[in-house]
Amino acid sequence: MMGQEQNDLLTQTGPGSSAGGVFRHYWQPAALSEELKGPRPLVPVRLLGEDLVLFRDNTGTLGLVARACPHRGADLCYGRLEDDGLRCPFHGWHFDRSGQCVEQPGEPEGSTTHERIRINSYPVVERNGIIFAYMGSGEPPEFPKFDCFRAPETHVFAFKGLWQCNWLQALEVGIDPAHASFLHRFLEDEDPQDSYGKQFRDKAADTGIPMTKLLRDYPRPEITVEETEYGMRLIALRSLDNGQTHVRVTNQIFPCAIHIPMSREMVITQWHVPIDDENCYWYSMFTSFKNPVDKELMRAQRLKEHRLPDYAPLRNKSNNYGYDPEEQAVKTFTGMGLDINVHDQWAVESPGPIFNRRNEHLGKTDVGIIKYRRMLRDAIENLAAGNAAALPMSSGSDVRSILGPVSIDAIGPWDAWRETLEISDTARRQACIDWDAKV
Ligand code: FES
Ligand SMILES: [Fe+2]
Repeated sequence: MMGQEQNDLLTQTGPGSSAGGVFRHYWQPAALSEELKGPRPLVPVRLLGEDLVLFRDNTGTLGLVARACPHRGADLCYGRLEDDGLRCPFHGWHFDRSGQCVEQPGEPEGSTTHERIRINSYPVVERNGIIFAYMGSGEPPEFPKFDCFRAPETHVFAFKGLWQCNWLQALEVGIDPAHASFLHRFLEDEDPQDSYGKQFRDKAADTGIPMTKLLRDYPRPEITVEETEYGMRLIALRSLDNGQTHVRVTNQIFPCAIHIPMSREMVITQWHVPIDDENCYWYSMFTSFKNPVDKELMRAQRLKEHRLPDYAPLRNKSNNYGYDPEEQAVKTFTGMGLDINVHDQWAVESPGPIFNRRNEHLGKTDVGIIKYRRMLRDAIENLAAGNAAALPMSSGSDVRSILGPVSIDAIGPWDAWRETLEISDTARRQACIDWDAKV
């Protein structure tokens, strides 16, 4: 249960907000690289409640600037991409990538007014299919050496999807290991051979048990949470009838990402980034430890469920997420089809755009959520006290020494799950020992 003031504090990320201040200390996904692949490389971006324009100028360099022209407010998304910047079609004011106005061609000859005009602009970098923006002041932090950034471009596929709810709701489903046994329950198991590109459809670790069966048969995981240098690690243990233990390790990367296993071959790094307080995008990097990713297949699988250009899911609130009571009786727990993204979307959107947490009653399995909120509150307090260095992965700390994280499903003895993890993770990394050659 949480009062309105606390709920506002943790959910609002617009300019000037407390949690927004925390977000502005980290690189945030602003767009997929593929969004700039067309003949006109420019897209509107709404991020942390700010309206921006992302573009690649005629030298191929990326720029991210405020969307409203500072003259009389015209929309710079319709700007002319020329001369290393963006020119407003209304009166021709021209801005470079730093947001500086460099020319006002209709003003009297010799006028220097433009020198005093600058729009907001933010640094952007492209990493393995995602363009990240840093919306804070000062020097941006370095990127940690996570696998999704270290992997060659051939081994990472990136995609995104729109959810119409506050980012915290979206994140909280990702740090709740208990829901997989219910929300994503399949009453029949598919052949794990057909699992490519899908989550929870592979075999559990190296056993012959489909993950769907394991999650269905063992719905009461014992969950523990450990604080880490990048956020936190969640460990869900399921004691199996054969005396073995299934351990599933997932991670929270501060402030708004999760890192989870997708299959034996792939892991997912997923950011839940606020568009504004009532909408967010999930951005995922699917990283393969083994073979290059079949990007065409993975994109086609996802485009069947999303429309462009806004990556909105085709199943959504307006069509009841495709809910079918017959399917719910015999095939899936939700009756909303086989795509687990739709299940998660329903779970996070149905409490309303900003869930009123006064109405919640957390249980023991919500330990990750409780811990995360404390971390966010601590970060807000530290920033208010001028102690930005206390934030996880803050600039100035040795961010480049942060590896992994390790997210994996494994099976071994109850009292040796840490060793089981290490052995399984080392085995799967055999195929990628040369990744550091890239960074
Ligand atoms: S409104 Fe943009 S130049 Fe006048
Ligand atoms: Fe889920």
